[in-house]
This record gives sequence, structure tokens and C-alpha cells, in this order.
Amino acid sequence: MVRTRKAFLPDVERIHAIIQPYSEVGTLLPRTLSELSENVRDFVVAEDDGQIIGCGALHLYGMHLAEIRTIAVVPAAKGSGAGRKLVEALLDEAEHHRVTCVCLFTRIPDFFSHMGFATAPREELPDKIYKDCVHCPNLHACDEIAMVRGTIPQNMGPRDAQILIPLVRLEA
Ligand SMILES: CC(C)(COP(=O)(O)OP(=O)(O)OC[C@H]1O[C@@H](n2cnc3c(N)ncnc32)[C@H](O)[C@@H]1OP(=O)(O)O)[C@@H](O)C(=O)NCCC(=O)NCCS
Repeated sequence: MVRTRKAFLPDVERIHAIIQPYSEVGTLLPRTLSELSENVRDFVVAEDDGQIIGCGALHLYGMHLAEIRTIAVVPAAKGSGAGRKLVEALLDEAEHHRVTCVCLFTRIPDFFSHMGFATAPREELPDKIYKDCVHCPNLHACDEIAMVRGTIPQNMGPRDAQILIPLVRLEA
């Protein structure tokens, strides 16, 4: 029976071990132990029979937006429902914080469309562009699909996005 719970510091090494093989092949961004420790309060873990078999994180930008990141399930437990339970736990967390839009960036949109996410233009999610994309070598060749669940924040309209995107290109 797979259950989810909030992560705490003693889980960090196990979370790191789950992410590592996926980051080595470019499926997930690499995370160091110190980064994971700093952000452990963002994480939820999935357990089966007391063993951690998966993890996922919710990064809060504000009530207007949060991002689901670093969803991973160990290969042996794929298909067990752990991935869905992790996403559901993170959506509950977002709801608890009264977040109105949850976004994510993925190469497997079908997995997330099962859970109510729809594709969205990435320019409409500038918080993500400022936080991560401007530092990414794949900024202009990104193969990840932006998805959202909820109402896309309106505080950055298309006019502002038109200003932001050329700025991002200059920084790159
Ligand atoms: C993606 C991942 C987290 C899914 O975990 P999982 O425990 O196997 O998923 P679940 O068993 O909860 O599957 C839930 C549903 O999604 C479907 N699904 C699972 N993986 C899928 C995929 N790669 N693409 C499309 N649908 C998928 C399942 O068939 C299931 O559908 P159902 O509800 O109709 O039965 C896991 O495969 C993984 O860790 N992948 C590598 C890391 C990764 O790609 N993370 C996502 C980065 S954005």
C-alpha cells in the first residue's frame, strides 16, 4: 500500500539516491545534497512498506503560482500508483496554501494530463523563466512542455511577456 508524507531531513540521502540515476540520463535536473537539504520542506515522499520509493516537490512562487518539480519513482515501483499519489499530495499542499495555479515543465505531458494539467505557453509563466530558464543552457532549445492546472496568473499579461522574453534572450 503506497502512502505519501511530508519529507524531513533524514530523507534527503534517499531522495538524492532516487533522483541521481534520472539526472545522470538528463530526465531530471541534478540536485545536490545541500540543495535538497535547503529545500526539503518542499518535498513529499511516497513509501511502500516503510521504504521510500518516490519523491516530488512543490515550489511556491506565491498564491498566484506554484511549481511541481522533481517527481520521481524508483524503476521497480513504476506503475504502482506512487507517481499519481505524489502529484495528488502536492496538489493538496498547493490547495492548503490557497495557490490558484500549479505549473510544471515536462517531457511526459500524457502522465500529467491524466491529472488535470493542460499545456500552456511558457511565456505566461515568467516566475519560472526568472528562476531557472535564464540559467539553463537549453533556454532556446528547450524540449520541455509547460503545463498548468488552474488559472494562469494574469499579473504578467502578454504585453509584459513581450518585454520579458527579449530581455531573457539578451541575458542568455
Ligand atoms: C513519471 C513517473 C513519476 C510515474 O510514476 P508511476 O508511479 O509509474 O505512475 P503511476 O503508476 O502513478 O501512473 C499514474 C497514471 O499515469 C500513467 N503513466 C505513468 N507513466 C506515464 C508516462 N511516462 N507517460 C504517460 N502516462 C504515464 C499510468 O499509466 C497511470 O494511468 P492510469 O491512471 O490511467 O492507470 C515515473 O515513471 C518516473 O519516475 N519517471 C522518471 C522521472 C520522470 O520522468 N519524472 C517526471 C519529470 S517531469
